[in-house]
Amino acid sequence: MAVLGGERRDPPPVWIMRQAGRYLPEYRHTRAEAGGFLPMVYTLEIAAEITLQPIRRFQMDAAILFSDILIVAHALGQDLRFVEGEGPRLAPPLEDGDLNMLVPHLAHFDPIYATVARVRAALDPQTTLIGFAGAPWTVATYMVAGHGSRDEARMLAYADPTAFTRLIDRIVDATIIYLVGQIDAGAQVIKLFDSWSGALAADEFRRWSIEPTSRIVAAVKVRHPEVPIIGFPRGAGAKIVDYARATGIDALAVDETIDPDWAHASLPPGLPVQGNLDNLALLAGGTALDAGVTRIRRAFADRPHIFNLGHGVLPQTPVEHMERLLAAVRRPM
Ligand code: CP3
Repeated sequence: MAVLGGERRDPPPVWIMRQAGRYLPEYRHTRAEAGGFLPMVYTLEIAAEITLQPIRRFQMDAAILFSDILIVAHALGQDLRFVEGEGPRLAPPLEDGDLNMLVPHLAHFDPIYATVARVRAALDPQTTLIGFAGAPWTVATYMVAGHGSRDEARMLAYADPTAFTRLIDRIVDATIIYLVGQIDAGAQVIKLFDSWSGALAADEFRRWSIEPTSRIVAAVKVRHPEVPIIGFPRGAGAKIVDYARATGIDALAVDETIDPDWAHASLPPGLPVQGNLDNLALLAGGTALDAGVTRIRRAFADRPHIFNLGHGVLPQTPVEHMERLLAAVRRPM
């Protein structure tokens, strides 16, 4: 929380995207018992337990709510399934962007708020609880195609910007409700995942990533001005500078394709940055891992920095590599 407020810490605080997940034996055990991904997300005892698993094992500085960005699509009335080995499926796909046939079910958010409250009560006061949502563009890519695919949404945005704007607006409205609900339940920080923002051409990036994100940030801040918001425009390259200036986010998560020295030189002075070790360097381990950590810590030594990966932990990552990463991040420089 101090670093998000603009302070520097050495060593930097650390948490890891997908820190609760399939690389952990205790996650695989719980998942086998629960019998699927959605029952885990919607059963508060299970979701809370999974959120806490990496904290117990590794004492990360932050816990991130165990849920998924596609819960918003589910709450807007699409059918949601996670197919083993294939990823998420949404039905019907919204090829024409028209949500009117769907019946929204915002009560899907209730067990998630309950999970947030339970996790906050169980956490040590020193450990921060991060809530999250997908940014509207990324959620829309799944809603339009019905699965993980960018071009259907990009095409609809060009072919029928009015329909696409309506879809984005509906996602914005539901996301604001969802995030305010998470904060009311105990989330201390919010992160917005724009995982597919890198698919957008420059003008489209302003229109479909920066603009809806700014509206969410502004609306959440009306209700909770004290809660920091981390933006993650994954794959956006040099456009992260515009994003950082224009969205009103309080901190920027950067992916592994961004040169940390360039990021430090180019981003607004004092803006907290989170990232950005390659998840493959974590998977490889050894000197690739150690050298990557050192390079990133050096590059961000003069600004508020939260250590993280550039994207989520890969399921095949050995647990010992996570231990080695944390030791390297926590070592005095
Ligand atoms: O970081 C965390 O530990 C918090 C939990 C979290 C999950 N998904 C759990 C999850 C968060 C923050 C997300 C965000 C999410 N979900 C994003 C944005 C971040 C990113 O990764 O780019 C996206 C694009 C999704 C959509 C999604 N959910 C996909 C594409 C998949 C399948 C990919 C895969 O790894 O299998 C999921 C499933 C999912 N969400 C899993 C987890 C732990 C794997 C589920 C399982 O099979 O056990």
